[in-house]
Amino acid sequence: MPEEHTTGIPGTDLQPFADWLLDTFNRGAFCLMASIGHRCGLFDAMRDMPPATSAEIARRAGLNERYVREWLGAMTASRVVTIERAEDGDRYRLPPEHAALLTRAAGADNLAVLAQYIPLLGSVEDDIVRCFRTGGGVPYERFPRFHEVMAEDSGQSVLSALESHVLPLVPGLRDDLTRGIRLLDLGCGRGRIITRLAQLFPRSTFEGRDLSADAVAHARTEAERLGLRNVSFVVADLSDFDRTAEEHAFDVVTTFDAVHDQARPLNLLKGIRRVLKPGGVYLMQDIRASSHHAGNVDHPIGTLLYTASCMHCMTVSLAQGGEGLGAMWGEEKTREYLRDAGFTSVDVHRLAHDIQNNWYVVR
Ligand SMILES: C[S@@+](CC[C@H](N)C(=O)[O-])C[C@H]1O[C@@H](n2cnc3c(N)ncnc32)[C@H](O)[C@@H]1O
Repeated sequence: MPEEHTTGIPGTDLQPFADWLLDTFNRGAFCLMASIGHRCGLFDAMRDMPPATSAEIARRAGLNERYVREWLGAMTASRVVTIERAEDGDRYRLPPEHAALLTRAAGADNLAVLAQYIPLLGSVEDDIVRCFRTGGGVPYERFPRFHEVMAEDSGQSVLSALESHVLPLVPGLRDDLTRGIRLLDLGCGRGRIITRLAQLFPRSTFEGRDLSADAVAHARTEAERLGLRNVSFVVADLSDFDRTAEEHAFDVVTTFDAVHDQARPLNLLKGIRRVLKPGGVYLMQDIRASSHHAGNVDHPIGTLLYTASCMHCMTVSLAQGGEGLGAMWGEEKTREYLRDAGFTSVDVHRLAHDIQNNWYVVR
């Protein structure tokens, strides 16, 4: 008699891949719950909390107990939260070693920030499916939380290391900023990076430009709240920056994760060359990857970055009638574009805290 199986998988060569798939579905679901835990302040509420019931945790976080209890079920099943059974109600605890990677107190190490990209990308799945069939792109307006999440993300990869690691990439930059120079940040989003620089270096002036009127409005409000007079923000489409850039107007230009999702990245780079004063320097943070699929097989977050590219970076560029370069344009193509833009010197740096990006110092 042939052996009976409920599925064709157990005991066959497919078993390891089936296990991998199930594990992946579990972890994908965990990302949705981790994003909610971050946004609702649940991880923060559980930090340093002794084992507590769902009601106690909900009360501390100011949330609905029934939802918190179900969330704790997902956290327990994923072994991120421990559980103690008790007659008068189970007790849950977030171990300190997990709190160190999931709470706001963890600063740049808070990986729950990144979990938000999964629901953010999932929210446009219907639009993306349409694009797979008909081409075209999904515009920024379809991602209402994008700039908020991006600002949190760059708060970790840039702001957290701004003084200790980012500024020292360019020899003499700190001294020049102290003395007083003009710095332009393109694709500045909510402008947190130059707002911080403006606070640190009152003798320098900073300007941010971005396509998003919402992000620029947010940046202006924050600068006003801080009473800063040496930082300004402009709504601008940089697609023809090669022609619109003022000649020799800035000492330093920066882009933080803001070239690959432009409509016309090469035009932006040509404009940067034009807007820089002779001897000026361009500092670019952009995705660390190979330009070839085969070169990214062992990339630690390759699946995540190609997915973010397909469902955001590439599609927002295509929605502008742009090139759709994509986040994974890679180091080889980055060097090629910089050369085509007229730059002659490119130094590539890696920062230990930022596994996602390369840091290019360009002249
Ligand atoms: C990945 S975000 C980076 C934002 C910011 N630099 C940060 O690190 O938080 C890319 C930015 O490029 C801007 N952008 C995209 N296309 C643009 C265009 N054609 N002109 C100007 N800015 C554009 C977006 O609005 C977005 O703020």
